[in-house]
Amino acid sequence: MLKSHSCGELKKEHVGQTVTLAGWVDRRRDHGGLIFIDLRDRQGIVQVVFNPEVAKPCHEVANQMRSEFVVRVSGEVARRPPGTENLKLPTGEVEVTAHDAEVLNPSRTPPFYINEDEEVEENLRLRYRYLDLRRAGMQENMMLRHHMVKFIRDFLDAEGFIEIETPILIKSTPEGARDYLVPSRVHAGKFYALPQSPQQLKQLLMVAGFEKYYQIARCFRDEDTRADRQPEFTQLDLEMSFIEDEDILNLMERLFIALTKTIKPEMKVMEPFPRFSYTDVMERFGTDKPDLRFGLELKDLSDIAARSSFDIFTSAVAGGGKVKGICAPGCAGYSRKQLDDLNQLARSCGAGGLVTVALGEAGGGGLDELTQDMVRSAAAKFLTLEQIKEMAERLEATVGDLLLVVAGDASTVNTSLGALRQEIGQRLKLADPGTLAFAYVKDFPLLRKNEETGYWEPEHHPFTRPWDEDVSLLDTAPGKVRGKHYDMICNGLEIGGGSLRIYTTELQRRVFRLLGYTDDEIEERFGHMLEAFEYGAPPHGGIALGIDRIVMLLARRETIREVIAFPKTQSALDLTFNAPAPVTEEQLTELHILLREEEE
Ligand code: AMO
Repeated sequence: MLKSHSCGELKKEHVGQTVTLAGWVDRRRDHGGLIFIDLRDRQGIVQVVFNPEVAKPCHEVANQMRSEFVVRVSGEVARRPPGTENLKLPTGEVEVTAHDAEVLNPSRTPPFYINEDEEVEENLRLRYRYLDLRRAGMQENMMLRHHMVKFIRDFLDAEGFIEIETPILIKSTPEGARDYLVPSRVHAGKFYALPQSPQQLKQLLMVAGFEKYYQIARCFRDEDTRADRQPEFTQLDLEMSFIEDEDILNLMERLFIALTKTIKPEMKVMEPFPRFSYTDVMERFGTDKPDLRFGLELKDLSDIAARSSFDIFTSAVAGGGKVKGICAPGCAGYSRKQLDDLNQLARSCGAGGLVTVALGEAGGGGLDELTQDMVRSAAAKFLTLEQIKEMAERLEATVGDLLLVVAGDASTVNTSLGALRQEIGQRLKLADPGTLAFAYVKDFPLLRKNEETGYWEPEHHPFTRPWDEDVSLLDTAPGKVRGKHYDMICNGLEIGGGSLRIYTTELQRRVFRLLGYTDDEIEERFGHMLEAFEYGAPPHGGIALGIDRIVMLLARRETIREVIAFPKTQSALDLTFNAPAPVTEEQLTELHILLREEEE
C-alpha cells in the first residue's frame, strides 16, 4: 500500500509513531509560517502540519497543494498543542507533523465544494457524480447500502436461502411497464428484453427444486422516473416453495427488525408489523400505502350527514355515496388561502369539493364549550350544533381543530381524504423522521378493469394465485376475485410486493385468457411457464423488495437517486456518460436496424 495508516484511524495511541498517509486535500490553511492540511480518505480526516523549520522542502510541496489534490505525506503523529484540539473530529486530539510529502496528482478546481454539505444543483452533481460521491453524505449513503445488502445476504444465508443469478438478456416479463429491448445481431429482427424483474426465472427455480432462492437483482423498467422510481433499480428478489403467505411476511418482518437494529439502531421500528386488508386500508387511510407514523384516520360521517339539511351531504348519501372526514388538529385558524389549497388538492383527486368546518380557535376549551357562532363553515347553517359536535367527536376533534369533510362516491371520497391526510401530516410534521412504520397490505383484488381498453389487467402480475374460494368467480365476476397478493409498505412508500403463485397449467391458462391473450399469444409468450408447470411444479410464492427505496428510508433521503451511485435523471439520462447516445452506422447495420425519421 502507498500508505501505512488511514487518516481517520489516528488517535492518541499513535502519538510518536511515524506514519505514511495518502488521500485528498480537504482544506488547506496557510498561517504564514505554518501550513495546515486537512487530509481526507475514506475513513476520515486528520490534520497535517507543515513547518518550514522541521522540513523545508516538504513545506514547499505543501505550498502547491490545493483542495482535492491527491497527496502522500509521511510524518510523526503528535498531540495537538493544548487548546487547539478539535473535539468534533474523531482524530481531533492529534496531528501529523510532516517530514516528507508529494503530490500524486493535482486536481482542477471542482465545480462545487466537496468538503461542505451545501446544496448543489442536481444535474451538476450527476454530471460530476464521481466528485459528488466523494462528499461525506454520499459516502455514508453508499456505505449504508453496502452494510444493508451484506446484512440481507448473511441473514438469508443463515435461513437456508441460496443466491442464484438469473440472466439480464431474456424475453419480456410483464410487470406493467414498458420493456427495454436489446436487438440481436445474430438473429435479425429479434430482440431480447431486459427483465422488469426475475419473476418467471425465480418461479422456474422453484420448479427446479431449490425451495429457497434469493437474489439482489437488477431490474429494468421503461417508465416515467419519479423520486422513488428509476429505469434501472435493485430488488431483493425472493421465492420459496411449500409455504403460506404468512411464512414470507413473518420472514420479512424478522429481517427488517434485525436489519434496522443492526445497521440503524438509532431508528425506531414499530413492532409488530400490522396487516391490513386492501379494503380496510382504503377505508381507513384512503390509500394502499399510508404513512402509519401518525393517525388522522378517515371516519365515516354518512349517518350524521344524512340527518343534516346540507344538500351536498344528503344527496351523496341518498345516491349510495359516502360522507367521510378527517381532523386537522389545531388548524381552525387556517386562512382562506390555506383552505383554498386544501380544496384544490381534494378537487385534483376527483372530489367535487371540500367542506371545512373550523371549530372556534385554539385554546378555546373543550367541545362542551363549542357554540354555533364559534363554527366557521360554509355548511354551518345546514348543520345543527349537535351534528357538528357529533362529527367532531367521531373525528376525535376538539375546539381549535379543523374538520375536513368530503362527500361523493366512496372511492373518490377515500382517495381525496387520503391525499388530505398525507398533506396535513406533512404540514404539521406529524411523522417522526426517526421512525419506520412497516406494514403489510393483503387481499387485493386479483384483477382491475382497464376502463380504456375494457380488458381485465392483473393488479400485481398474471402469475398471482387467486383465493381458492374465489376461483369459481373467474368466469362470472372477475372483479370480485381476490388475489393472494401482498404489499409491504413503510412510511407512505410501497417498498415491496409479492404473492403466492399459480402453479398449475390449467389455472394459469385460464387467467391468461381472462387477460385477453389468445391461445397463440399465450403459447408464444408464456409457453415455457405452462410447460414447466406440467413437470411437478411445487406450490410456491415470493416477494420482491425495492432495495433503493429501503436505503432511502434508512438514510432519510427524499429520492432514491441519493442512494444509487450512478442514477439517471428525471428524464432517464445518464449525465456522467451522456447516455443514451447515438451509435455508428456500422453498429446499426450489424444489428439490422434502420432508423426512421422522427415525425414532427
Ligand atoms: P413489484 O413490481 O411490486 O413486484 O416490484 C417490487 C418492488 O420493487 C420496487 N420497484 C422500484 N424501485 C425503484 N424504481 C422502480 N422503477 C421500481 N419499480 C418497482 C418497489 C416495489 O415494491 N416480480 C414482482 C415481485 C414478486 O411478485 O415477487 C415485482 O417485481 O419497491
